Order: sequence, then structure tokens, then C-alpha cells
Amino acid sequence: MKLFLTGASGFVGSAFAKAASRRGHHVTGIVGAFVGTLPGVNENRSLDLTDDAALTSAILDTFPDAIVNCAAVAEPARCDADPARAQALNVALPATLARLAHHLSAKFIHLSSEQVFDGASATPYSLQSSPKPINLYGRQKLESERLVHAAAPEFAITLRAPLLAGNSLSGTRSLHERLFADWSAGKTPRAFSDEIRQPCTAANLADLMLELLERNDACGVYHWAGADALSRLEIARRVRAHFKLSETAAPIEAMTRAADPRAASKRQATLTLDLKPLAGKVKTPIETFDAQLDQLIIPPAFRAWYFTQA
Ligand SMILES: NC(=O)c1ccc[n+]([C@@H]2O[C@H](COP(=O)([O-])OP(=O)(O)OC[C@H]3O[C@@H](n4cnc5c(N)ncnc54)[C@H](OP(=O)(O)O)[C@@H]3O)[C@@H](O)[C@H]2O)c1
Repeated sequence: MKLFLTGASGFVGSAFAKAASRRGHHVTGIVGAFVGTLPGVNENRSLDLTDDAALTSAILDTFPDAIVNCAAVAEPARCDADPARAQALNVALPATLARLAHHLSAKFIHLSSEQVFDGASATPYSLQSSPKPINLYGRQKLESERLVHAAAPEFAITLRAPLLAGNSLSGTRSLHERLFADWSAGKTPRAFSDEIRQPCTAANLADLMLELLERNDACGVYHWAGADALSRLEIARRVRAHFKLSETAAPIEAMTRAADPRAASKRQATLTLDLKPLAGKVKTPIETFDAQLDQLIIPPAFRAWYFTQA
């Protein structure tokens, strides 16, 4: 398939490009500020995705079989810091891409987030659960879902994804890479014992995206995550144990939401997802957290620090 991939330099986009190339697809990868080589990308184009005319022209030039949207302002704090930019990338962009996909009869994969939910439910959110975002990022993701499926009802797939583990291209995006950044700078990261998440790796999400693209029966909104629901504190401790770091070299401050109500007001307590109907119907495995840990590498920027500690 000819694939038009936005966000090719991002955490998920770079994993998707590698997976797509392994399966013999041709990837036109769109980047913004990134300069460098992107494994798996056949043609690399630099483009401001908020420029509708340039985007439309690039897609019509490519005439792809599928458009895959991995571009976004993907962190809640960054959305709050620049809401207009976040609205352009998280809402207007996917709506435009969906319209173009509909126009070309191309498949369209969009990424949303578990953060469309409020985190107040102790049981996993299913596709029937009512979204109720509590931060701007979640509201933008929900709005994008509605616009995408209104514009391309027969061609669009949206995956609501969880907190992502794995090895990012930049070495700074994933949960273990952020811990390494803090530890190597002599900081003590805080981790909430009462915030529950269900991570999977970006590579696993990319495999699922490809699987859904390659089959013809998927359309609509789906949930995806890992097999284990863990507190952020447990996640951090298991990363530390996996890399055999001591509590002195890699300290973690255990926190509860009650100790920081201001932060807690914008963060969901429990985000777990019911993976029906994909669970049991796709070949992509639902990864345990142990299987995710086994894939993690020491982030290159922190190797020198690591080898003085381990
Ligand atoms: N990371 C997570 O834990 C997570 C969890 C759930 C869902 N998601 C969703 O998954 C998707 C991918 O997230 P991610 O973590 O991979 O994001 P990311 O690493 O922050 O990457 C964002 C991508 O968007 C591109 N981009 C941003 N503004 C652009 C512009 N104006 N023009 C062109 N490109 C632009 C960036 O390109 P340059 O760097 O080249 O500028 C980069 O490739 C998002 O929809 C996100 O909401 C992520």
C-alpha cells in the first residue's frame, strides 16, 4: 500500500514507519521540525501541517491508499500552553485529513486517547462508556473523533490509545526515557500510587494500526492498551528494577493524588480500557508489562550516566 504518514518523526509515527516498511508498504513520511533520517520512510517531506493548501497538495500528489495521522500536540501540558496550536493539530488537522481520505476513497487511521474519559470509573471503559474529558487535550481528542467519523464514516478508524511505553526516536518521549532524564539530572521523579494506567508499547500500537489497515472489516472507534493495569508508582519501580538501578541512583517519590489536588484536577485517576471487540479478534498481541519491559533499551543520551550507576 502507498501510505501517507503524518508525524513520521514522532514516537508512534516513527514506530509505524518501521513496521510498515517491514511489511513492504511504501511510506511517504511528513515531518515538521525534524531533520535527519527516518528508518522505514521511503520519502521524507517537511511540511507545516497547519497549512491546509500545502497539505492538500502533498496528499493529492501522493494519491495514497491510506492516510495515517500520527501528528499531534500529544501532551496535555503543551495543549494548555498553546491551545490554538493544539486545536489546529489535534482537531482541525484530523478533520481535514478525514475529508481528504473520503475524497480519495483512502483508508484513514487516526489516534485518540484514553484521556477522552474522566478516570472516575474503577471498571474499564468500554466503547459504550460516555466520554467525559477533564482536560483540554481530552476535549480536543473527543472533538477530533466526532469530526473524523462525520467526514469519513466508511474509511476512518480511530484508536483510543493508552500511556505508551517503548523506545522513541528522540529518546525522550516514553515513560522510561523520562525517568532516565530525571535520574541522570539528579532529580527525583514523583509517581502517583493512586493513578492507574494500562500501557502498551508504541511498536505494539503500530502493529495493530497496520493490521487494521490491511484488513477490510475495520471501521469506527476502537480501544487498545496493554494487558496489565498498574499504578504509575508501580510502573516506575518496575522500570527501575528492570534496569537493575538502585533506589539511591534512581529515587522515586511516592505520591498520592490527595497530596497534590491541583495536579490531580487535570489528571485522571484510573484509565483502563475494555479492549472488546478487538481482543481475541486481532493477531497483534495484547502485551503484558513484562513483555514491554523486555523491549526497552537504555536511552542513548543517558548511557554514560547509566554505566556509572549499574
Ligand atoms: N505518546 C503517548 O503516550 C500517547 C498516548 C495515547 C495517544 N497518543 C496519540 O498518538 C499520536 C502520536 O503521539 P506521539 O506521542 O507519537 O506524538 P509526538 O512524539 O509528540 O510526535 C508528534 C509529531 O507531530 C509532528 N508535528 C507537530 N506539529 C507539526 C506541524 N505543525 N507540522 C508537521 N508536523 C508536526 C511532529 O513533527 P516534528 O517533530 O518533526 O516537528 C511529530 O512527528 C497522537 O495523536 C497522540 O495524541 C499518544
